[in-house]
Amino acid sequence: MRLNTLRNPKQLLNKRVLVRIDANVPIRRGQVVDGPQGKIARAAVDLEWLRQHGAKLVILTHLGRPNGKRTPAYSVAPIAKRLSGLLGVPVKLCRDVVGAKAEKMVSVMQSGEAVLLENVRFHAGEEQNSRAFARQLATLGDLYINDAFAVSHRAHASVDAITEELPSYAGPLLVREVNLLHSLHAAVRHPFLLIMGGLKISTKLPVLEQFLPHVEAVFIGGALAQTFLVAQGKEIGRSVYDKEGVSIARSLLERWGQKIRLPQDVYVARRMSSQAKLHLVSVEEIDAKDYVVDVGRRTMRTYVRAIQRAKTIVWNGPFGYCEIPKFCSSTYLLARAIAARTGKAKTIVGGGDTIPILEAAHLAEHFTLMSTGGGAMLEFLAGGELPGVEALKK
Ligand code: 3PG
Repeated sequence: MRLNTLRNPKQLLNKRVLVRIDANVPIRRGQVVDGPQGKIARAAVDLEWLRQHGAKLVILTHLGRPNGKRTPAYSVAPIAKRLSGLLGVPVKLCRDVVGAKAEKMVSVMQSGEAVLLENVRFHAGEEQNSRAFARQLATLGDLYINDAFAVSHRAHASVDAITEELPSYAGPLLVREVNLLHSLHAAVRHPFLLIMGGLKISTKLPVLEQFLPHVEAVFIGGALAQTFLVAQGKEIGRSVYDKEGVSIARSLLERWGQKIRLPQDVYVARRMSSQAKLHLVSVEEIDAKDYVVDVGRRTMRTYVRAIQRAKTIVWNGPFGYCEIPKFCSSTYLLARAIAARTGKAKTIVGGGDTIPILEAAHLAEHFTLMSTGGGAMLEFLAGGELPGVEALKK
């Protein structure tokens, strides 16, 4: 795939380079969860390259889903701290996304310096893909680089509309991911398994629809599984699920029931706490007071057996509620089974909530590709056109 890339790094000298990264990682106790293979660490490699070539870095990212409102819990301050550590220079935080304060901070920057603008999603114009907001952002840069593959499936202003306002280029991390995923997509070997878990259900259900004709089976866990169990009329107690997704799940089951594998047993708890007692029950036995917190052993045995025969495996999203380590056992088991298959199969994993788990399990290097993208990776592999990537095509 031919993307517009920066050919001559000399053109970076003293330029204000607006770089969109995806530093959307979990924040725990005010600190980013991001190891050496994490999204921020990987973005920093390219930021350093730009800095070394004399650019003034004006960095953009989103964090979470603050819905266009300034929300202190979603401030990017912890990201500025992490970036400062990685780059070895202070990355100053601008408390505004656009406007006079941002313009002033950027106007006094020297070559090699870096400023991180506050969460772009604090501004309603971001998710509206507003041209006016993109224009305001564009006043802060001479050129724009999208190095955020993970958010390139969103037609948002800092990903899409901005490319109409400034000379725009694909960053090295984005190019690497797009090329690798493109080559894997072009040469899929069967059996092909898609494994999906996690929380961001609304974006995953439509992607599932696109994948189903091409895979031998889809294994489902996490909150996504709960949505399917509700669609089957099962009790899921107080567990998280996607109300709006139930009808899609029902129609997917009607059409593709043979390929969709759901948990047969699950771990339940009465509290979402590390002190809670875990009980292994069949999906018929979930009580109205239960939380489903992890996929059960019997289900995992059948999933792992199929993984051991697969030739292409795509995985996104944890199977249990991994914020509490004791609810993460099936996810670790899954990660180990997929990693063990690398070499004999193409193994593609990704997603903001999956990467920290793989890092914690020391498995980050054990896959054909660990993509920074979750939804973006799935949409790309499903053959969808990502607005952020399309905008950078030659
Ligand atoms: C991700 O973590 O998948 C990306 O940062 C996109 O986040 P979003 O689903 O909130 O748009």
